[in-house]
Amino acid sequence: MASAPAFAPLILWTLLVFQSFEFGHSEAFTNVSCFGTEREALLKFRQGLIDQSKRLSSWTSKDCCEWKGVECSKKTGHVFKLDLRNPCSETDRYGDIIGWDQSSLAGKIHASLAELKHLKYLNLSLNKFSKQKIPQFFGTLQRLEHLDLSSAGFDGNIPHHLGNLSNLQYLDLASSFGEGYLTTDNLQWVSKLSSLKYLRLSGNDLGNATDWLSSINMLSSLESLQLRGCSLEKLPHSLSVNFTSLRFLDLSGNSINSTIPPWFYNFSKLEYLSLSGNSLSGPIPVSLGELSFLRELRLRDNKLSGNIPGSIGRLSNLEVLVITNNFLNGVVSESHFANLTSLTHLDFSSNELDLSFDPAWVPPFQLQYIGVTDCYVGPKFPLWLQTQRNISYLCMANARISDELPNWLSDILLNVEYIDLTNNTLKGPISRMDLNKMPLLGLLGLADNNLSGSIPNSLWAMENLYLLDLARNQLSGTIPSLSPISRMDGNKMPRLIYFYLQDNNLSGSIPNSLCAMENLAHLDLSKNQLSGTLPLCLKKLKALEMIALGDNRLRGQITNFFCHFKQLAVLNLHKNGFDEVLPQCLSNLTELVLLDLSDNDFTGEIPPFGRRFQSLAIINLENNSLTGGIPTQLCQLDSLRFLSLARNNISGSIPLCFNGLLSMVEGKDPTGSFWYNPTIIYVMVHAKRTTRLYDKTLYFFHSIDLSANNLNGEIPKELTRLVQLQNLNLSQNNLSGKIPSNIGDLKNLESLDLSNNGISGRIPPSISSLDFLSCLNLSFNNLSGPIPSSSHLRTVDNESVYRGNDRLCGAPLSKVCPRDGNDTLCGAPLSKVCPRDGNDKLCGAPLSKVCPNEGNLDIHNWFYAGLGPGFAIGFLGFCSALHFKQSWRISYFQAIDKIIKS
Ligand SMILES: *[C@@H]1O[C@H](CO)[C@@H](O)[C@H](O)[C@H]1NC(C)=O
Ligand SMILES: *[C@@H]1O[C@H](CO)[C@@H](O)[C@H](O)[C@H]1NC(C)=O
Ligand SMILES: *[C@@H]1O[C@H](CO)[C@@H](O)[C@H](O)[C@H]1NC(C)=O
Ligand SMILES: *[C@@H]1O[C@H](CO)[C@@H](O)[C@H](O)[C@H]1NC(C)=O
Ligand SMILES: *[C@@H]1O[C@H](CO)[C@@H](O)[C@H](O)[C@H]1NC(C)=O
Ligand SMILES: *[C@@H]1O[C@H](CO)[C@@H](O)[C@H](O)[C@H]1NC(C)=O
Ligand SMILES: *[C@@H]1O[C@H](CO)[C@@H](O)[C@H](O)[C@H]1NC(C)=O
Ligand SMILES: *[C@@H]1O[C@H](CO)[C@@H](O)[C@H](O)[C@H]1NC(C)=O
Repeated sequence: MASAPAFAPLILWTLLVFQSFEFGHSEAFTNVSCFGTEREALLKFRQGLIDQSKRLSSWTSKDCCEWKGVECSKKTGHVFKLDLRNPCSETDRYGDIIGWDQSSLAGKIHASLAELKHLKYLNLSLNKFSKQKIPQFFGTLQRLEHLDLSSAGFDGNIPHHLGNLSNLQYLDLASSFGEGYLTTDNLQWVSKLSSLKYLRLSGNDLGNATDWLSSINMLSSLESLQLRGCSLEKLPHSLSVNFTSLRFLDLSGNSINSTIPPWFYNFSKLEYLSLSGNSLSGPIPVSLGELSFLRELRLRDNKLSGNIPGSIGRLSNLEVLVITNNFLNGVVSESHFANLTSLTHLDFSSNELDLSFDPAWVPPFQLQYIGVTDCYVGPKFPLWLQTQRNISYLCMANARISDELPNWLSDILLNVEYIDLTNNTLKGPISRMDLNKMPLLGLLGLADNNLSGSIPNSLWAMENLYLLDLARNQLSGTIPSLSPISRMDGNKMPRLIYFYLQDNNLSGSIPNSLCAMENLAHLDLSKNQLSGTLPLCLKKLKALEMIALGDNRLRGQITNFFCHFKQLAVLNLHKNGFDEVLPQCLSNLTELVLLDLSDNDFTGEIPPFGRRFQSLAIINLENNSLTGGIPTQLCQLDSLRFLSLARNNISGSIPLCFNGLLSMVEGKDPTGSFWYNPTIIYVMVHAKRTTRLYDKTLYFFHSIDLSANNLNGEIPKELTRLVQLQNLNLSQNNLSGKIPSNIGDLKNLESLDLSNNGISGRIPPSISSLDFLSCLNLSFNNLSGPIPSSSHLRTVDNESVYRGNDRLCGAPLSKVCPRDGNDTLCGAPLSKVCPRDGNDKLCGAPLSKVCPNEGNLDIHNWFYAGLGPGFAIGFLGFCSALHFKQSWRISYFQAIDKIIKS
């Protein structure tokens, strides 16, 4: 899977680097019986533990040297090694560790452990000693050479007593999983660990340990230093470097905002350097070219600028060069690479580099990973790629290639797992690539191009494909279906999870063959010309989280169909020909986030979505033929921010409980699942790229539209509690009574339409405190009395706003109110044409309609424009997926750890 693209080289060589630390099993000997005191000590220690998975069940026999995780010295018979690291290692498809929780040890660490005076090796990592401090008595285990307490849930200050462990060579106190983290106000204690070769404090807060560098500078034996995500802020410009044995340095994920200091070149033995994820600025120093042993250089996600120095070309051992997402620019020439014969992993993505190499260039390396997204690669497909026969990952999105897919591509990509050519101007048919030559392909991203022709049938033979994105091209023809013969020989495209064909010219019906994709989670076929009915066998696809079929010509026969998808988060059937009764069982789909059935001809009543729908944020049922009332259960939707029931035949009154829509009352963030839902992340990250019509996206947009129904009764004053509302449209109903006097509480309101009802009484003066109001329509009601005047209202001061209320008076109407404020008839003719308001996002139409009933409030564009500016990371291509899923990164670093420590 994509969770850890091309980290293999790193893992391989860290293995080499840290082999030397591997702890000597030679001392171990099973045929010795243990000392009674040590057995007692271990038993006491075990008593304090909670061992859910019973992995210490062997801790009963007489000879403790036989116990799992315990080793005794053959010379002395003493326990010298205690390895209680959580053995779980399996990860799920997002890279989260499975079963970590269950196989963790928890509980208290008994001080009896201090009796194990001969202990040289102690490993309690990946357990759950949550919110405990590291026991001070660990500092008395004088013989310890190896101490690993990483990701074990320890919390609080690191006891400085650890500084007494003068034999320590390996110290790992890294934190992860958010189970707790360590702090320390200084690292002076570390400076006493003069034998230390390996120090890892990643994930702890060292922000107050301003002496960290000077303390570590005392450790002249140090070979590996990992301070990832430690809130470090400063690197001094000058330093007399003492720890020159360093081979592995990871300072990524801190807040270092200086330039890369010149003293780095003193680390002449350095093989691995990562400064990724800081705010480093300035150029890449020429002196980095001195680090002749360097095999990995990772500088991604900084603010480095300038050219790539030619001295990089001297790093002849370089295997991995990652400078993604900086402000680097200029031309990268062939000569930069002349000596980089070992390079396998090159990631230049998200810089403004010109990589239009000489087509005749024959690079000296064989790359496995190529990341040039956002770089200028040139109008033609780069010919030098033809020499690269080991490519696994090809990340070349936004690279301004306007060419056909070369027919040699599939001949060189025999081992490819990942192709992202999104957002170029590729043209011609996909079939110029022979997909059958790429049996390992897992991800194929060709969206946002000008590809035409039909979708090749050969797709069905792609056994490993898990993501196929052909959205926003000009593909035509039908969605290919499996021939009956190949359908016989098993499950085709069995791994497909994400399937995107939206925004093409596909026609015909949806083939039954899709039902073979057992793992499908996302299916987006919207904006095509698909017709016919849905294949009922799709019911089998229990993993579906997103079904988007909007803007097609599909119809009928869906009764209860969608209710089978218990995981469904997004259901978009917008603008098709569905005309049956809306199935009430939709109220069983409790994972829903977005439900858009608008512009069909659904009949029946609105299903009673209620409290169980913790994530439901968007309901759009507008322009159907729904009847019945508004179910009061809707008021329990905590996350609802967009509700449109407009243009139906809904009757009854507006429920008095709308103040239960907490998201609109408090602007509270959607529940966590909303953000960690891969569906939503896809929609946000991916679909965002086409439509940037609105700067205010739906995520922050709160709207209720109940217009053009048969609602009666009064406007409930509870509606005025929805202070986050930006749009409220109740027009074209039979509402009566008065406008709630505190309508002015809706401070964020930009558009208010109450027109074409039977609302009477005066316009509450508080309306003039609606600072953001840019559309107002109160026309055709029975309002009377003076129009409140204020500077805020002036932008919407326009006769048409008030037209059809014969008893209103005052500006902008020409009828002057009597001085006594007496409600007299205001019979002046209303003739002025309303001007167009260019700034108005909500009401683009001429203001004679002031708040239009339809059309301009295009929730589809809005929604797909990306739900989240809160999600501030722009689209960086699939290859940057590691950005989006924290746990992917965690698992990546765990993978490294595993190797280093094994
Ligand atoms: C190993 O243990 C067995 C019994 O378990 C004993 O007979 C044998 O002598 C022991 N060997 C050594 C070298 O201690
Ligand atoms: C850092 O020091 C400040 C001031 O003494 C203190 O308030 C803060 O809690 C400390 N932070 C950590 C992580 O120890
Ligand atoms: C360098 O390390 C030695 C001990 O290894 C120490 O005595 C010396 O003070 C250190 N120098 C600096 C500048 O920290
Ligand atoms: C680095 O950040 C500090 C505050 O954290 C700020 O005072 C300083 O100006 C920043 N330096 C640069 C070069 O941006
Ligand atoms: C490549 O190596 C040769 C020989 O070591 C050296 O002369 C040359 O300058 C190097 N090229 C680059 C671009 O560093
Ligand atoms: C909802 O699900 C429950 C059990 O999961 C089922 O008994 C019930 O019939 C379903 N409701 C509808 C309307 O389908
Ligand atoms: C698509 O690529 C062009 C460069 O050709 C770039 O300007 C644009 O921002 C890219 N679009 C997206 C959504 O990344
Ligand atoms: C309102 O005005 C009308 C006509 O100007 C007058 O007949 C009526 O008495 C007034 N009513 C009040 C309450 O002032």
